[in-house]
Amino acid sequence: MRTRAHPPGCEPRRGAVPRPLRAHSFRGGPLAAVLLALAPAACTPSASAPEPVYEEKDRAAEAARLLSGPDWFRHAVFYEVYVRSLQDSNGDGIGDLPGLTSRLDALKALGVDALWLMPIMPSPFADSGYDVSDYRAISPEYGTMADFEALRDAAHARGMRLFLDLVLNHTSVEHPWFQESRLDRTNPRADWYLWSDTPGRPDLPCGPVPTFGTSAWTWDPVRGQYYFHRFYPSQPDLNHWNPDVADATLDVARFWLGRGVDGFRFDVIGLLYESAAGCSMIPETVAYIQRLRTLLDAYRDRAMVAEPTWFGSTAPFYGDGRDMFHMAFDFDYGLGWGLTFAESSAQPLADHFSAIAQDLPPGAQNAIYIGSHDVPRAFERANGIASRWRRAALVQMTMPGTPFVYYGEELALRSGTQVVVDARDRARAPVPWAPGVGWGFTTGQPWIAFGAEPERTNVEAEKADPSSNYAFYRSLLSLRRGREAFGTGSLRVLPTDDPSILLYVRESADETYVVAVGMDEGASHTGVASGANLPGDAQRLLGDARLVRDGTAARVTVPPAGMGVFRVR
Ligand code: GLC
Ligand code: CA
Repeated sequence: MRTRAHPPGCEPRRGAVPRPLRAHSFRGGPLAAVLLALAPAACTPSASAPEPVYEEKDRAAEAARLLSGPDWFRHAVFYEVYVRSLQDSNGDGIGDLPGLTSRLDALKALGVDALWLMPIMPSPFADSGYDVSDYRAISPEYGTMADFEALRDAAHARGMRLFLDLVLNHTSVEHPWFQESRLDRTNPRADWYLWSDTPGRPDLPCGPVPTFGTSAWTWDPVRGQYYFHRFYPSQPDLNHWNPDVADATLDVARFWLGRGVDGFRFDVIGLLYESAAGCSMIPETVAYIQRLRTLLDAYRDRAMVAEPTWFGSTAPFYGDGRDMFHMAFDFDYGLGWGLTFAESSAQPLADHFSAIAQDLPPGAQNAIYIGSHDVPRAFERANGIASRWRRAALVQMTMPGTPFVYYGEELALRSGTQVVVDARDRARAPVPWAPGVGWGFTTGQPWIAFGAEPERTNVEAEKADPSSNYAFYRSLLSLRRGREAFGTGSLRVLPTDDPSILLYVRESADETYVVAVGMDEGASHTGVASGANLPGDAQRLLGDARLVRDGTAARVTVPPAGMGVFRVR
């Protein structure tokens, strides 16, 4: 049912001031929950009982329990960091590891449990570090191995985990392996890369157009042959068919596991092997991933997330749920939400997340994101419409999966305009921390210009503003924290008679939550879910929607672009 005015049974009380999103003032914890439940609402269903207040758990203790068990990665909130743009510590304008270490408390206060660092190894940075020239060291621009160890220890001391980005499909042309391989056709590493006399090979049908550029084959005058690359010409693909190469890249993972990292994001892992039979996730790649998993399992509580190479089901990355990846990124949501939220139908999201819940093996965890270093900023993809990316973030934090927040998303960071490496730099501008010199990011000249409106999007300003995006993210992350239902609980989508309302239940052994998302940005809607069978009345924890239990049915009312999270048990 669609209404432009107030839905029936839900007239504003006389004199009541319409409230902005309640999320802005919710900080979690028992006291906040009680205060929220008692606070007057702008719109109260006339004939319904007062909201219940469920007994609140000690969420900090619950979070500690959930985040220290073997399923820790399913309960954690990850935060993707481009070290170059987070915090500079030495005035050279380039973010670095000591700078990041100095900001751990700030990230912890936001609600971050784990960090994924984009590549931090030595690299000519022709692809922002995804062109590694030494797998066992730290980029000098970022610091030293001692700085890395200090970061690791500081993170662990705060109960935070640390993931590195491993780029094993290709190296930089500057890597000594390639420098040796290119020398001639007989050197010990002659076939560590994929060479050919012609720009193509029948056993390598992949390409011919790489992700960047026009040909997947580039002529090397030193060796007098062409080499294969899926990405920039300065990123030659390793030849994993050579068992020495497979052993060497596995050894890279072993090296960092020994240095105490908690896991990895594996860059384009599906592309490791190619053959006449296929270019992505062929059986040899699967076997390699299984070796990786065996290696990780030899250490305690490690996990890994795959960057898939296609849209659609990520099931092939999970194997039986125990022998391949713990997580894989959800490209469909990550790249598609902007369009989905521009429409007003709830069905695509309901279908998408229900399909994943059915498709993935037990224990597998979807990795949900709304922005990354590869795509335009969420702000841009939502056309600057705050309610759009905020609802997308609510779905990200409450659908089954582990959320990966891209740095600056919590600030609604704007796109940059300067391009140093390539167009993706627009989403890689530095964090403005506070008004003043270099916005608190650097005392020098930043390596790339800040995005638009740093006076509005700096951390200090947003922290002081209860209606800011930062405040919204804090409440979202605190809502998820210590609530088992959101990390590992079941999903039940509740169809309503209004196609614009997305309504779903997340349930753990002893708690049940309902999430409502209004897909229509222009009108209020009321929908009835006839077979809802909610176990109790609704206590609203976040948002501006209303949920009323009516026998076995549930009636939900959502303002334009509204949302709500309710506890019902
Ligand atoms: C992945 C990375 C991207 C990089 C590419 C090549 O897609 O996310 O940034 O350019 O791999 O390594
Ligand atoms: Ca620096």
